[in-house]
Formats: sequence, C-alpha cells, structure tokens
Amino acid sequence: MDLIEKIQNKSANIGIIGLGYVGLPLSLEFANKGFNVLGFDLDENKIKYLMRGESYIKHIGSEKIKKSVSEGKLGATSDFAKITDMDAIIICVPTPLNEYREPDMSYVVGTANTIAKYLHKGQIIILESTTYPGTTKDILLPLFENAKSSGNGKFKVGKDFFLAFSPEREDPNNSKYSTSTIPKVVGGMTEECLKIATALYEQVIVKTVPVSSPSVAEATKLLENIYRSVNIALVNELKMVFDRMDIDIWEVIAAASTKPFGFTAFYPGPGLGGHCIPIDPFYLTWKAREYEINTKFIELAGEINTYQPYYVVDKAIEVLNKNKLHLNGSRVLILGASYKKDIDDMRESPSLKLIELFIKREALVDYTDPYIPTLPKTRKYNFAMESVDLTAESIKNYDLVVLSTDHTDFDYKMISSNAKAILDTRNAFERNGIKSSSIYKA
Ligand SMILES: NC(=O)c1ccc[n+]([C@@H]2O[C@H](COP(=O)([O-])OP(=O)(O)OC[C@H]3O[C@@H](n4cnc5c(N)ncnc54)[C@H](O)[C@@H]3O)[C@@H](O)[C@H]2O)c1
Repeated sequence: MDLIEKIQNKSANIGIIGLGYVGLPLSLEFANKGFNVLGFDLDENKIKYLMRGESYIKHIGSEKIKKSVSEGKLGATSDFAKITDMDAIIICVPTPLNEYREPDMSYVVGTANTIAKYLHKGQIIILESTTYPGTTKDILLPLFENAKSSGNGKFKVGKDFFLAFSPEREDPNNSKYSTSTIPKVVGGMTEECLKIATALYEQVIVKTVPVSSPSVAEATKLLENIYRSVNIALVNELKMVFDRMDIDIWEVIAAASTKPFGFTAFYPGPGLGGHCIPIDPFYLTWKAREYEINTKFIELAGEINTYQPYYVVDKAIEVLNKNKLHLNGSRVLILGASYKKDIDDMRESPSLKLIELFIKREALVDYTDPYIPTLPKTRKYNFAMESVDLTAESIKNYDLVVLSTDHTDFDYKMISSNAKAILDTRNAFERNGIKSSSIYKA
C-alpha cells in the first residue's frame, strides 16, 4: 500500500516530535480523526503526564487526552528508535534565539539527525518549527539524503522519502480558531512530497494552501510574524507620541477601526511576548545578512518594542511622583505574568522584564496571576516569587498596581476601588467600563 492510501484509510502511523504548544494539539487532532499517533519528547515529565491522560498545558483540557490515550490512539515516548514504525513524522521542536540573538537550530538539527538514523523508504518528514527560508532544503534534505540507513546509495527525495515544510499558526486559547480550523500552508521538496503532505493535513485541517516550495512556506510564516511585529511597534511608537500630546492612543485606534477598508487594528502594550513575535523576525535578519541586506524594518520594530518595558517603568515613576513618592522603596504589584491573557505561557513575557527593571530600581515588587502560581525559571530569569492573593486588603498595601496582562478573571472593579494608583498598559480597566482619576495608561 502506498503512503497516500495509508493516509486516506487512516492506517498511517503518525509520529509527532516535540509535544509542546504546537505538537500536543496537533497530536490530538490526528488521534481524534482515528490515526495512531505516537508523540516523541525528551521531557520525561510530559510523557508521564500524557500517558496518565493529563494535560500540562492549561488551555488544553485533559478530557481530550484521556479519551485518545484510553482508546489507544495516542501514546508518548522518549524512545526515538520507534521512529522506524512511523509513516509520517512531523517535527515541532523549539527554534529559539541564542544569547547573540541568532537562530539556535540545535533542536531542529538534533531531531533531524535522530530521524536520519531511523529513516527508511516510504516515510514523509514535515518540519513545522518556524525557521528561516532555506532550512528544509539546505539543512534537512542533505541529512536525510545521506542517511546511513540508505546503505551504499543515497535516498532520493520524492521517490524514497518525502520532505515538506508546513508552518504552524497556533494561537493559544483563541476561542474562534484552533489547529483544525486554521488553513495550513504547505511546501513540498517535490510535487510528490507536496501531494503527500497536503493529503496528510487534509485529514485534519479545514484547508491546505499549497505553495511552490518549502522556502516559500518558511518565508510565509516569517512574513506573518514580521507584519505583526512591525505593526505593533508602530502603535507603540504612536502611543508615546500621542501621550505627549495628551491624546489617548486607544481612543484613536477605536476611531480608526471604524474605517471599513485599508486599516487593521494593532494594539500597544508593555512589550512583546511569546515564542513567536519577539523571536521569529530575527531568523530572517540573520539569514538576510548572508545576502548583504539589513532588515531595517525588523530591527527598528525590535528596538521600539524592546523599549516598551522601560517606557512603562518611566511612566510608573511619573505616577508615583504625582503621589509624592519615588520608585525606590515603593511597593509595586504587577497584575499578570503570562505573555498574553488567559493562558499560562510565560515565554518572553514582558512582565518578567518589568519585574527585573523594578527590582533594579529598588522597588519592592510582587506579582499576581491566576495562571502562574510561581514564576518559573527561564533561560534569563530566576525570580523565586509566588503569586500574591488578590484581595481588597492586599491591594491596599501597594503604592502602585501595574497591569501587564489583562486576564479576564481579574476583578477590575474590586482592584480599582482599592488601589492607590494604577498604571494600565492594556487599557483593560476602561475596556471593562472603569474610569478613575487614579488610573493612568502606559
Ligand atoms: N507556541 C506557539 O503558539 C507557536 C505558534 C506557531 C509556531 N510555533 C513554532 O513551533 C515550534 C515549537 O513551538 P512550541 O511553542 O510548541 O514549543 P514548546 O517549547 O512548547 O515545545 C517544544 C517541545 O519540544 C521538545 N523537544 C525539544 N527538543 C527535542 C528533541 N530533540 N526531541 C524531541 N523533543 C524535543 C521540548 O521538550 C518541548 O516539549 C517553534 O518553532 C515555534 O516557533 C509556535
């Protein structure tokens, strides 16, 4: 039976490497549609959780996992030799930046080397991790073509094995769109690769968008994220300009949004967060240097967005001054630690930068977040801090409350009735119908 037939009758075994925010929901989609899915991860804890039918990502319910595991459709392992038994292998491992803000491809390369050990004829490999254009062709293809398991000869792509890139467009906790309802761009190394990869995704995703090569698919993902980064930087800059003019950017955006064409609203904030927007654009910046091009828009957007936490701290000093206080020694409560509302993802969260800056200026800082009971250790930060209880009494202890993440669960009315002063970086209080002379915006 050929691979397309196996995919169409759902007898193809699906291996997903990297069971994080991208890999876990994707595994569940395939399992839910009746495929046998085996998830691979280096993190033994994730494997234990999954095999017990439990979720380790707050917005992904345990019920779905329990159902798929108990029906025998979903398993998880750290035994990579089982890649041999897979027909389709989808790579969802991290692609961060290293300390020099250059692409850290070690996870992708490490995974590709492991796959190359077990590669055999008839398998398809798809990379989903965000990366610079050329990764699939220049890094993965030679590794697989020269895989030891090919024996004396080389494996031929499009004939012996198949290779494609298909970027993930996950938006964690978006109630309107989930993995299966977001159209998926797919680029294959050959026509046959594209045909098989689209056949595979068509089983679980509402619409596939075939493009002419993996490089186009890689570039598409970067365009999407650069577009967001640049537009967010634009409104962050305008926020600072309008603030000097005593004009509220939020009111301006709301008014501009009534234009039925040619305008898409982006919103300012305390800084970029998450695995994608602060990181992905720099994958292109790095690659463009090879072609002697400086990505000026990306760099400028990065500069403006990186400045935002500093701007918030400057505003905090202004607000405290109004109350005849100084930041040194003042008690500051940060509302929200995760990088966006209603999730438990801390990656690149601007709240961490705010905490760092406030501590450096000798403020006494606490945070509160219903999703983050303790601050996790990250590559850069290791604050041993626990979320404080948010009560009328506890709020009264602080000289300033800084809203960083606008969780729906916050009791905005209760907070505003008890806080001495509030600095709101997301316009959350006004959006919740609360206006007061002690609420300032940053
Ligand atoms: N999180 C998002 O919303 C999102 C959206 C679009 C694209 N992406 C991209 O998808 C990719 C994965 O992101 P994520 O958010 O799922 O990351 P994640 O950190 O949540 O998950 C990655 C998983 O891979 C595992 N892992 C690392 N190295 C491994 C290896 N060698 N073998 C097996 N497992 C390994 C980690 O233990 C972890 O469980 C990244 O390239 C990211 O840029 C993420």
